Parts: sequence; C-alpha cells; structure tokens
Amino acid sequence: MSKLNILFVASECHPFAKTGGLADVVGALPKYLRKLGHDARVVMPRYYGVDRSKLKKFPAPLGVPMGVIGEMWCGIYEGVLPESEVPVYFVDYELFFGRESLYNDASGIGFMDNDNRFVLLSRAAMQLCKALDFRPHILHTHDWHTSAANLFLTTIYANDERFARCASVLTIHNMQYQGAFYNGLMNVLDVGWEHFNFREVEMDDKVNLLKAGITHATMISAVSPKYAREILTKEFGYGLEATMRTREGDLWGVLNGVDTDEWNPRTDRFIAPNNYDENSLENKLKIKRALQREMGLPQRDAPLIAIVSRLVKQKGIDTIAEAIHDLLKMDIQIVMLGSGEIWTHFYFGDIMKLYPKQFACRIGFDAALSHRIEAGCDLFLMPSRFEPCGLNQMYSQLYGSPPIVHGVGGLEDSVQNYDERTGEGTGFKFYGLNAKNLVNTVGWAVHTWYNEKERFRAMQKRIMRLDYGWERSAKTYEALYLEALKRANKPFS
Ligand code: ADP
Ligand code: GLC
Repeated sequence: MSKLNILFVASECHPFAKTGGLADVVGALPKYLRKLGHDARVVMPRYYGVDRSKLKKFPAPLGVPMGVIGEMWCGIYEGVLPESEVPVYFVDYELFFGRESLYNDASGIGFMDNDNRFVLLSRAAMQLCKALDFRPHILHTHDWHTSAANLFLTTIYANDERFARCASVLTIHNMQYQGAFYNGLMNVLDVGWEHFNFREVEMDDKVNLLKAGITHATMISAVSPKYAREILTKEFGYGLEATMRTREGDLWGVLNGVDTDEWNPRTDRFIAPNNYDENSLENKLKIKRALQREMGLPQRDAPLIAIVSRLVKQKGIDTIAEAIHDLLKMDIQIVMLGSGEIWTHFYFGDIMKLYPKQFACRIGFDAALSHRIEAGCDLFLMPSRFEPCGLNQMYSQLYGSPPIVHGVGGLEDSVQNYDERTGEGTGFKFYGLNAKNLVNTVGWAVHTWYNEKERFRAMQKRIMRLDYGWERSAKTYEALYLEALKRANKPFS
C-alpha cells in the first residue's frame, strides 16, 4: 500500500505537554503509524514548558487568519517525537500559549480566551500544510480543542487543491468537555453564519466546537468500543447524544494501546535498577518498600492500593472520598497522586493527617512518581464514573498490579472480572458506582490478596503478559483512515 500523509492536530502530546491520557495517545500513535510506513506528523502549541533549545525554528512566521481579529502571526518550531522520526510542529504565539498550564488558571478555572487559543491552533494547522506544502490524506483531530479543523476542511479549505485528497477523522477522548463558547466566536471561525444552526455548530445558542467536529468530520472514533456505544446515550452523551446518533454509522470504537517504550517494567528507567518481569516479582516488592518509605508509610506487609488520577468527578473521586473511612477500616495502605478539584486537595490532606500510617497523598503532577507507584503497588483503584478508555488500568496490569474498576467504557473493555471458581480474570470489577459497591469490591480484592496468594500471584503473571501494543490499534486506525477516504469519495491508491 502507498503511504498516507497524516496530520495529527492536538492540544497535548507526551513528552512535551501533558495533563492526561490524550498526551500519551498523541505521543504514541503517530510513531506506530510511521512504523506502518505512513508519514504521520503532529501539530501542537508551544506552551511555556516546551523546551525550545533542541527545536529548529522556521525562518518565516506563519500567517493565520482569525476572522474579525485579523491575521495572527505565529512562530513555528520543529522537533521530533523521541525514538522516532515523527516531526512535531509547535505553534508559537506567546500571548496565547506562553503559560505554565495548558487550559486552566491556578484555581482550576478555564482561561477566558480558550476559544481563540484553540481556534488559532486549529487554523494554524491548516495554514501550516500550505507553508510546508504537506498534502494530507488524513487530518486527525482530537477532542474539542482541535475539532474546528474538521469544520475548516469542509468549508474554507473545501476547494483548496492542497486538501483535495484529504478526509478527516475526529477522535473523541472525552465527551464531557465540548468547547462551548459565546456565539460571537463565529466571527473568528469565519466559516459563515449559515453554519450556526442546530445541525452543525450551534448548541444552546452557543458555538459548540466538539459538535462542529462531530458534524463535519468524515469519520469519528471513540477511544474504546464500549465508550463508542455509551456516547449515543443520554447518560454519557452530555447533551450531544442526539448529534452523535446522526453519525452512528461513521463512528468506530478503537481501544488505545500502551506505549511500551514508556511503560514496561522490564525497561522502565524510573524503577531501575529494580526492573522486573513475571519471573522476578521480588523486585516489585523492593519497589513497594521504597515507595512506602518515600510516601512516609510504615514498610509493612499489607496490600498497598494506588490511585493516580486527575482528582475530578469523572474519576469517581467523590465516591472514594465518601468511602475512605470504611476503606481504611481494612488492614490496607493507600497512596494517592493527583490534582484537580480544589476541595480534594484539602479533603485528602486531612485524611492523611487522620490516618498517617495508612494513607499518603501527593498533590501535583509527577511523571516519575507515577511510574514508581504503578510498579510498587499491589492493587490499582480506578472507580471512574465514566472512562472513555483509561490508560492507568492497562499500565497497572502490565506492571502486575491488578486494577479495581467500575465497569464502564474502556475499563469494561480492558478488565475481565476475577472469577473465584476458576481463578481467571485480569482485575476486580463492579457495576453501579456507589460507596458500598466500592468498599465491597476493594474488600474482595484485599481478601484475595491475603487469602488466595497463589491465585493472586497467577493473576499478576497473567496480566503482565497482556498485549496492549499500539501495533494492533495503529492497524485499526489505518483501516479507519482508508474507510474515511472512501466515504469522502477521495480515491487513494
Ligand atoms: P485521563 O486522560 O482521563 O486523565 P488516562 O488514564 O487515560 O486518564 O490517562 C492519565 C494519564 O495521566 C496517565 O498517563 C497517568 O499516569 C497520568 N497522570 C494522571 N495524573 C497524574 C499525576 N498527578 N502525575 C503524573 N501522571 C499523572
Ligand atoms: C481522556 C479520557 C481517558 C482516555 C484518554 C486518552 O482523557 O478521559 O479515558 O484514556 O483521554 O484517550
């Protein structure tokens, strides 16, 4: 097969900027598409935290038309994804992107100009193709931040010969965040007010960027098969379920993979020299002891349960808060790493003072510590209210730490419940998110850890051998791209 030119446009990409799993996906999938022979490239913002010293600066600035605002001139830097030849283009506009955090101010409130910031990114990606003379076959956008690009492709650039062979794919990583803004944004998008209607861009008299992407993308993917079904329903559609249903036939669910260059206990640099595999789990115990010490917990032989998460309602953090006293009645230890809703920072800080021998929490974002936790814990807790895919449960499996999950979205697709009769299973799962079910299921996992050591060990070995390689998902994306080209009637050979 000939090679596809694929342009990823995204608001985050590991290792350059990350708040969650979106960055992990955008930092990995293009590498695996490249391995399949395609020319995949990434466009993202040059945030303050991106180190420019190793990047190449383009000699000429890029002009980006922004409707009533006029032309905005951006610098462009170029780098590569580590361990690959995937070019990454950074859109540099100091006033918009020169900030410490990606989306929110210190109190967690979204920046006032997020609309213009991400419309600029989306439009810059289109303009950049012209500047590079890169003729994409596939424009692949991610979440609301870049879905204006799907709209641009079918409007402003519809007759541009550089995009004559291009179809677009929108991947939905999270339906809750939609980019809904004051309708004056139409004047910045500059696609014509005729698109401000219920079938395309408008929702509750606002511009809804995710909706614009859903209605204008050639095809749509959700990050797990189960989530692809869920977003067609009221419970998970966040008001866009009816719109989603109009595109049901063009919607695929593709489970994310794991980038094993980053997440592999056999090679992970953050746990060296105690790297381990299924035959050297004694090293995992050493990491556990070191983790207990690091987190200020007694180095005892009790199950260590981990939480690494954005501390928001999506992750069931309110249910954990409700259940915490009952959980800590068991002979267990809990370590928590995360940040998010401000109340959680205070609440779990107080819990730490109440239960210093059992509960330790670190508020903040710490990639190295997150690896040590995945490796050092015995069980990984993820009772998400909804979970489009979820990566941590897969990481924890590969690190031999069975996950305890609420059976929704990608958690349902990637965790097979422990079966007490046969000993089979890849984690512990419950349905119906409430404190009682959570406590009972943690109790079940803890009981298994204490009383069924052989079976627990067998589960650890089994899950460490699971195959979450991106190779398979990249192949599915390749098929999705070819299907999109077919449906857009853009012949590719
Ligand atoms: P989401 O994208 O919804 O936050 P995922 O499970 O898909 O959930 O991905 C979360 C990613 O972010 C994982 O790579 C996880 O290790 C990482 N992560 C989340 N919180 C932290 C944190 N406080 N410190 C370090 N890494 C974190
Ligand atoms: C989102 C989702 C998460 C998913 C990630 C990567 O942040 O909340 O479930 O794993 O995107 O697709």
